[in-house]
Amino acid sequence: MKKMLTGLQPTGVITLGNYIGSIKQMVDNQDMYDSYLFVADMHAITVYQDPSELSNKIRSLIALYLACGIDPNKNKIFIQSENEYHANVSWLLECNTYFGELSRMTQFKDKSMKNENFTSGLFTYPVLMASDILIYDTDIVPVGVDQKQHVELARDIAIRFNKKYGDTFVVPTPVMSRVGTKIMDLQDPTKKMSKSSENKKGVIMLLEDLDSIRKKIMSATTDSEMCVKYDVINKPGISNLITMYASITGKSIEEVEFMFEGKNYGEFKREVADAVVSEVSKIQNRYNEIINSKEIDEILDKGREFTREIAKKKYEDMKKKMGLFRGIEK
Ligand code: AMP
Ligand code: TRP
Repeated sequence: MKKMLTGLQPTGVITLGNYIGSIKQMVDNQDMYDSYLFVADMHAITVYQDPSELSNKIRSLIALYLACGIDPNKNKIFIQSENEYHANVSWLLECNTYFGELSRMTQFKDKSMKNENFTSGLFTYPVLMASDILIYDTDIVPVGVDQKQHVELARDIAIRFNKKYGDTFVVPTPVMSRVGTKIMDLQDPTKKMSKSSENKKGVIMLLEDLDSIRKKIMSATTDSEMCVKYDVINKPGISNLITMYASITGKSIEEVEFMFEGKNYGEFKREVADAVVSEVSKIQNRYNEIINSKEIDEILDKGREFTREIAKKKYEDMKKKMGLFRGIEK
């Protein structure tokens, strides 16, 4: 079974767009891969994070993924900072990565331009990411466009290390997240629903109050036609609501169009709101059950122990190959 690894930064909120476009797919795919899922908290601190908020966000993120259906028996779930070998391996890899390579990373260039006092962690961030990936002999890394260059760097580092010191790492492949279902902003349906949108009325968050979600759907932008038909160009608002309804209920676009033939937009929106609220409330109920439970701690303890063992072996192997051990005088 191929190994797949996903890192999630514990910053920002999770939207309905993330759920439909990404988490639901992960849940559907969890039988296909030997899958590793971790919270990249050490990546998050490359920019300042409020310490007490950060620790809550780490726990909350794990609880939310579990509540969405990520199965702890099918995924190794862990927190990056609880496995100290990630940073140790990262150092050995840094000594095999060129300054020039890191200087060419576009995310670094973008982020460092915004702030004069950026940390050196922001610069070496991609090497820590390579360490996350290479430790587990990962075959596949699903990423968005912004992270593809980092996975390509991890490939280059793996190939270089293997050449210099002998076969040590599997060379990973970045897989662009399938352009699956894209959920658009409810107020401006020509734009992707995004946690960074200024107008929060267009964005549904998974942990948002249910009444507020309902209101946002009821006041979603539509058009003046009064016909529930999928047409992204001329009816982006209605098309987006159809997509949302179809992905949550598992119906096809045609079935949804047929169901709402002759119905007005008010009735249609009420049905969409009911479906979304029902799905989100199930997730929220499960989230509330587990957020403060021992279950999460047990899952994370298990993930930490399992991954530390693998990582320790890889680290020891790298050290040995690089000559980091007590020599014997000949
Ligand atoms: P981001 O929140 O932008 O870091 O994205 C995390 C994952 O969620 C990526 O796989 C995105 O493609 C997916 N995603 C984010 N927003 C949406 C959206 N509005 N519709 C569908 N997928 C999304
Ligand atoms: N840098 C990734 C992001 O910002 C998170 C991440 C850290 C990651 N390590 C990883 C993703 C390893 C995939 C594999 O989204």
